[in-house]
Amino acid sequence: MKRVTAFLALASVLSGTNAYWKGFNIKSYQADGTTCKTASDWANAFHTLTTLPNKINSARLYYSSACDTLTNAVPAAISAGLFLLVGVNPESQFEEEKAALQAAVQRHGWDWIVSVSVGSEDLYRGTTNATTLARQINEVRDVLSSISGYSPSIKVGHVDTTNAWTNRSNAAVIQACDFVGTDIYPYFQDLQNNSIENADDLFWNGVKEVREAVADAGRDTSVWVTESGWPVNGTTKNLAVADTKNAKSYWKSTACSAFQQINVFWFTLQDWSAYPSFAVLDPDSNWEFDLSC
Ligand SMILES: *[C@@H]1O[C@H](CO)[C@@H](O)[C@H](O)[C@H]1NC(C)=O
Ligand SMILES: *[C@@H]1O[C@H](CO)[C@@H](O)[C@H](O)[C@H]1NC(C)=O
Ligand SMILES: *[C@@H]1O[C@H](CO)[C@@H](O)[C@H](O)[C@H]1NC(C)=O
Ligand SMILES: *[C@@H]1O[C@H](CO)[C@@H](O)[C@H](O)[C@H]1NC(C)=O
Repeated sequence: MKRVTAFLALASVLSGTNAYWKGFNIKSYQADGTTCKTASDWANAFHTLTTLPNKINSARLYYSSACDTLTNAVPAAISAGLFLLVGVNPESQFEEEKAALQAAVQRHGWDWIVSVSVGSEDLYRGTTNATTLARQINEVRDVLSSISGYSPSIKVGHVDTTNAWTNRSNAAVIQACDFVGTDIYPYFQDLQNNSIENADDLFWNGVKEVREAVADAGRDTSVWVTESGWPVNGTTKNLAVADTKNAKSYWKSTACSAFQQINVFWFTLQDWSAYPSFAVLDPDSNWEFDLSC
């Protein structure tokens, strides 16, 4: 029964004009960057997502057990009618992270999960290696597949930067993934023409390069954009100027078209006092710029 319900839910969320996951990245911390979000912080964040235009249907989180993330966020997401791209941290308390995911599925079933990313930019940071990460991705899939109602439509993959995916040393990670999530930031691509006028081209080139890396690894795994955005403030990087005008321009050129073509998790809903800040909402939850498409 669980399996049937999950398929119906996915089919109804991703039907017709709503054919892709359209979400925002949300951290487990409050504005100070160290205090964990409470259940009501999650409820507020998810409620805010439901008030945005473009039928946002999901959010990507970074942790499972850290900050009691799934304990607090899953009921709030279910109440808001949103789905979660779960993050399992493979580098800190991995056993606890897996156990928290398992407990959340046992308690709430499957009808709130987009899929699961094991890790976030770990290869880019060089804090793990491909062999270890591939094994951990497979371990998380093993945990899920042992729970009643599991379906392969719940994908287990990994999120990293375009450069990490195109590095052939990391092919084993691609081979372990049911989806490949890439983070693309033209603003930071300061060795290239990263003017706002060229940002949409850099974005789609990034998607293309990762798709080619997947093919080179002998797979046809689906590529998702798990982070992208343009900062509303920050220093100039080569030709990339950080301001709300350009953040709006990147949203209109790139988010709006990507939402129609690929699963996308924008960075980010709120960035509090970060500098550069990639937030679409200011600290008072007002829109930084017009978010309609
Ligand atoms: C990968 O990391 C693991 C765990 O730290 C280590 O045992 C292994 O030797 C490393 N493999 C390579 C190829 O570096
Ligand atoms: C590719 O990854 C390997 C293993 O982490 C690293 O030693 C190498 O420097 C990377 N290559 C590039 C071009 O980044
Ligand atoms: C950067 O790309 C934009 C858009 O393609 C173009 O108009 C501009 O001339 C380029 N700038 C440089 C310095 O190449
Ligand atoms: C950058 O933008 C954020 C909004 O997310 C704001 O809170 C912060 O104060 C800004 N920083 C500077 C230095 O302007």
